[in-house]
Amino acid sequence: MSEPRVEWIASDPVSQRVIEVAERVASAATNLLITGESGTGKDQLARYIHERGTRRDAPYQKIDCASLPPELVESELFGHERGAFTGAVDAKRGRLELAGRGTLVLDEVAALALAVQAKLLRVLEEHRFEHLGGTEPLRMEARIIALTNANLERAVAEHRFREDLFFRLNVLAIEVPPLRDRSGDVLPLAAHFLERLGPVHGRPEARLDAEASAALAAYGWPGNVRELKNALERALVFAQHDVLGIADLPESVRAARRPAALPANLRSLEQLEKEAIAATLEATRYKISLTAEILGISRKTLLEKRKKYGLL
Ligand SMILES: Nc1ncnc2c1ncn2[C@@H]1O[C@H](COP(=O)(O)OP(=O)(O)OP(=O)(O)O)[C@@H](O)[C@H]1O
Ligand SMILES: [Mg+2]
Repeated sequence: MSEPRVEWIASDPVSQRVIEVAERVASAATNLLITGESGTGKDQLARYIHERGTRRDAPYQKIDCASLPPELVESELFGHERGAFTGAVDAKRGRLELAGRGTLVLDEVAALALAVQAKLLRVLEEHRFEHLGGTEPLRMEARIIALTNANLERAVAEHRFREDLFFRLNVLAIEVPPLRDRSGDVLPLAAHFLERLGPVHGRPEARLDAEASAALAAYGWPGNVRELKNALERALVFAQHDVLGIADLPESVRAARRPAALPANLRSLEQLEKEAIAATLEATRYKISLTAEILGISRKTLLEKRKKYGLL
């Protein structure tokens, strides 16, 4: 039996719950939908689930529905016979077939063209498919894990995604929360990435100083785990020492630091003005013209302000 290779760092209680659910659905026979913002770890979780389930020794195949043109998605999924379309010089097996009894991941599933959605729905219902241009029926045995960072319900409401296909894929669903909602993961993830990437960049001893750790913990990570990983990798590449400081972090992270505690003696401009007028009046022994001259205002303005501030 193969050893699991994919790790999932989960220190925050929020992501520990995600992992509990993932362990439970890992061996389920039903399809699974993983949702979450970009960079939250959907790919990583799909792989983790594959490796913990009963299909772990069978193939793991992935297809990126967003980056392939629709014609190619179809042949990539189902395979094709020689001459099935212009350019199909040889027969080719599709991902569904290559996945066998394993897992087929449909990445960015919301990007599937409606025609391909219709075909996929039929395959999911009948558990059978053919190569493009072929007639021989092939059995579908793989488990589908669909990933999306788009709101599929909205895509359904807007008729961009078939509702019946949505229900087929959404039998089980896991939402990977954004990193800002599981801030307890930030530093353990950072330590994990330094440990893994440090040796790659010639800094196996790399670590963060207290200020850098505080800055990472305080930042909101709109790009989620991927942004954190990139920030640390960049720091490792450019750092001059093993101890990474605030200066080694991206400007966005540095800018989000909480300002240092404010000095206690800060006051409003009005208060400062009142104090300046009172002090100058006292110093000139209440000579109005001289006070106005020193403060750079007219006698009239000085008298108004004196009245406003109740200075006699
Ligand atoms: N919990 C985790 N533990 C360890 N590494 C993680 C974890 N979550 C994410 N990563 C790493 O962070 C990076 C981004 O994760 P991944 O590619 O899975 O995100 P994604 O949700 O699929 O993003 P996208 O929507 O942009 O495709 C990857 O390098 C992944 O290995
Ligand atoms: Mg992804």
